[in-house]
Amino acid sequence: MRRNPRDLVRYTAGERANHWVVGICFILLALSGLAFFHPAFFPLTQLFGGGPWTRILHPYIGVVMMLFFVIMALRFWRLNVIEPRDVEWLKNVNKMVDGNDHDMPEQGKYNGGQKVLFWGLVVGMVLLLVSGVLMWRAWLNLPVDVVRIASVVHAIAAVWMIGLIIMHVYAAIWTRGTIRAMMYGTVTRAWAKQHHRGWYRKMTGDN
Ligand code: HEM
Repeated sequence: MRRNPRDLVRYTAGERANHWVVGICFILLALSGLAFFHPAFFPLTQLFGGGPWTRILHPYIGVVMMLFFVIMALRFWRLNVIEPRDVEWLKNVNKMVDGNDHDMPEQGKYNGGQKVLFWGLVVGMVLLLVSGVLMWRAWLNLPVDVVRIASVVHAIAAVWMIGLIIMHVYAAIWTRGTIRAMMYGTVTRAWAKQHHRGWYRKMTGDN
């Protein structure tokens, strides 16, 4: 949806659908995973049809999220390669957090913080996938110590991912005009010029 014909397209419908499949799977996985993590969260299994169903569904939802995450990461990784201007941006991140972002170094489609978060997500996903597969099926007959180590790695990776996604969602809400990029695909020129001037110049040819 272009609310204004001058708005800039930031995501295609395919990119948005891809992102939201990952996002919805992530929420379902966090809810079902927390239910296994501590008895206080066990009532969350009711959302999935009880304990056994939660245990059956969680790894399959994990596989769906992984597949769609791989597609999303292949789409976006080039835009997340860290450049010298991103390092400068990261050094000045406290100015940004103070809301004093006018003299931050110019950014391309993604800023240094988004890029670091992207690679943090990739690392977390690899750890979740490997440790999750090792724990999945009893018939794999793995030594019990392997399963034990995998469950500790899985729990640490899950806490890491939940922390990163809380930051990701907070930043998306905090930077006004960003959520609509993932909802409708477009952003205003003013938003692009303020937050991602390099991308704005590339898209419009303006200074
Ligand atoms: C569930 C709540 C979520 C919300 C509200 C949300 C929101 C957003 C928004 C608004 C953007 C656009 C940012 C921009 O264009 O500057 C975005 C981008 C992105 N999101 Fe999410 N997201 C969520 C969950 C997730 C999850 C679970 C993942 C992956 C595990 C994820 C990975 C990404 C990636 C990779 C990008 C592109 C940014 C980049 O490549 O650096 N998001 N998200």
